[in-house]
Amino acid sequence: MSNPAQILSPDPLARLIQKNQFIGWLGAADFERALVLTSDVWKAQARGVPHNCFLLAAADGTAPEEIFLLRVSGSAAPSADAELQARLEKLKARAPASGGELTVEEFQFGLLQGRVLGTFYLQDGRLRLGSDVENYAQAAGLAVYRPEGAALEAIVNYLSPARRAAAEEEARRLGLQGELPRFAIGTVRYASTERRHRGEGAERAVFHLNAVDFLARRTAVFGMTRTGKSNTVKKLVSVVKHTSDDFKLKIGQIIYDLNGEYANANQQDKGSIAEVFPGETVRYRMMPTPGFELILNNFFQQIAEGHSTLRGLLEASKLARSADVEAFLSMDFAPPNKEDCSSDYEFQRQTALHQLKLGAYQAMLARAGYELPPDFKITFEVNPGIRNKVNPSVNPADGLTATQAYEWFHLARQIQDELITSTGGSWIEPDTNVLMNLLLQKNDQGGYIPGFRLLQPFKDYHAPNRRTDVCDEIYNHLADGKIVILDLSVGDPVQRERLSKRIARHIFRSSMATFNAGTHPPHIVIYVEEAHNLIGRYEALTEIWPTIAKEGAKARIAVVYATQEVSSIHPNILANTENIIVSHLNNHNEISELAKYYDFSDFADSIIRAQDVGFARVKTLSNPFVIPVQIDKFDPEKEKTRAAGGK
Ligand SMILES: Nc1ncnc2c1ncn2[C@@H]1O[C@H](COP(=O)(O)OP(=O)(O)OP(=O)(O)O)[C@@H](O)[C@H]1O
Ligand SMILES: [Mg+2]
Repeated sequence: MSNPAQILSPDPLARLIQKNQFIGWLGAADFERALVLTSDVWKAQARGVPHNCFLLAAADGTAPEEIFLLRVSGSAAPSADAELQARLEKLKARAPASGGELTVEEFQFGLLQGRVLGTFYLQDGRLRLGSDVENYAQAAGLAVYRPEGAALEAIVNYLSPARRAAAEEEARRLGLQGELPRFAIGTVRYASTERRHRGEGAERAVFHLNAVDFLARRTAVFGMTRTGKSNTVKKLVSVVKHTSDDFKLKIGQIIYDLNGEYANANQQDKGSIAEVFPGETVRYRMMPTPGFELILNNFFQQIAEGHSTLRGLLEASKLARSADVEAFLSMDFAPPNKEDCSSDYEFQRQTALHQLKLGAYQAMLARAGYELPPDFKITFEVNPGIRNKVNPSVNPADGLTATQAYEWFHLARQIQDELITSTGGSWIEPDTNVLMNLLLQKNDQGGYIPGFRLLQPFKDYHAPNRRTDVCDEIYNHLADGKIVILDLSVGDPVQRERLSKRIARHIFRSSMATFNAGTHPPHIVIYVEEAHNLIGRYEALTEIWPTIAKEGAKARIAVVYATQEVSSIHPNILANTENIIVSHLNNHNEISELAKYYDFSDFADSIIRAQDVGFARVKTLSNPFVIPVQIDKFDPEKEKTRAAGGK
């Protein structure tokens, strides 16, 4: 256990030293490396010194002015250097912190190789960590400790003064007291074997992701399949939610849930995000399902969206397609553009033709059983000459019901020859003629075609009651601090991708617009799984996903992306990713990709060897080095209790 006197010490530097965790003496050091003389006895007393564990080296006895931070990088062979040998012999003879009556031989001395990570010191009463050593000349003979518990927490959760100031400023802006909160996501773990350093009596150190590192930043989650990527995402979502609730800080979170594992209770994991935060989660699907909102749009109002949905569905359905259906698939419902028209008159004429086309399309949808939105009428203008010929008692400009619209086009078709003669054929566009064929189930030769019937199977994709664009609705939920889950496990893949992009683009544009207007957009975190599909190596950086990954920070959008392969991600995005969480990877190519970043190369062997689920190596923006962490298991039962107000 830590010495209580030290825990209470007002000196944050002194608090790092836990005398009972003494493991040896520093034999030698330079800017990069350190040699530690240790013994089996001391190591056992400190519950082991695993590979990659942190060590602290400080002057023995007095209150330290600086403390070196080291990481165990391996063992070292006895040196042939006579001077060093003599120094080591002297250290062996030095009275060890404890060891009872053992003789020097019984200590079983050995040497450890360490990597120098930095120097802790005090400035203005606050702990600072420099990422190097200024002077190693006095280092030999320093006492070495393996920090655990509170001291280890201070190390792995260290926040530089600059980042702390940023956290305080952001907190002030958000009306919070003190600093931005931190999110506890796991505990420090050095090795696959947990018998000693995390075993009985060991004080675990909780690792936090600082909100100031996480919000408006990029976080990558890498690892082979079943090594805990999705669990990490779930843990993040829930801890961000709990913490933001505690701090009354709104953080909207949206999950692109490709496998439906966040939205639905999954047998294996018993519980999902949606179950843990029922009142705070809004689930969307592309198919009507109880408990889910429709990602879909209102086909009568979002014409282009609806048409492209139908196109995707018809193309995927592999039904036989007549010429009329082919023509329907390639239609474009964009309204006429004034600049493209030679005169105002021409623009008006084009607009009227466009309206007629929309009218025919809507009449066809209605005929196929697509429910008209409440109070919606099919409305278009036709000139009085045509109107009087078709049906003088009905003016489509006043709005038609579905039946009236069908009848109007039916009558118009009956006198089509007359209309063509009187207008020189200019009364409708070719597209409108095709739509009328589909509506009336007759092709240009008068033969029967299934027409609108082909659309009948897809009417569930239309959301008649939706008044607002689904994207606006989602954005409002996010601004309100809700968790939005887009369950993309069902529905047509093409449509799914298009919708996903459209929502992402809308979030980005809305937040950028707020930013450009000089105000602060809401904090939003976007989680994407299978990220190689969206921000892959060959993706154009101008596409929406790479754009968000690159420029989301300004718009206060954080992106968390998960994928199995480091190498599959666009290098430019990877290089700008502030936080990286990696569990087991099984090949050297992936490791060498990762080893380009920070000190991940120190962990190369352990990442390949240890396959433990949730055992991650984490580099955050604030920490100048990688920290090995066991990510907490997302435990729905515990989370539910906490969400309900318990701890
Ligand atoms: N930190 C953890 N502690 C304990 N169990 C975990 C942890 N992380 C994940 N698991 C369990 O391991 C299994 C696989 O985890 P998860 O689904 O998160 O892996 P994944 O990397 O997302 O896999 P995939 O690539 O297949 O999506 C799950 O049953 C999960 O509950
Ligand atoms: Mg997964």
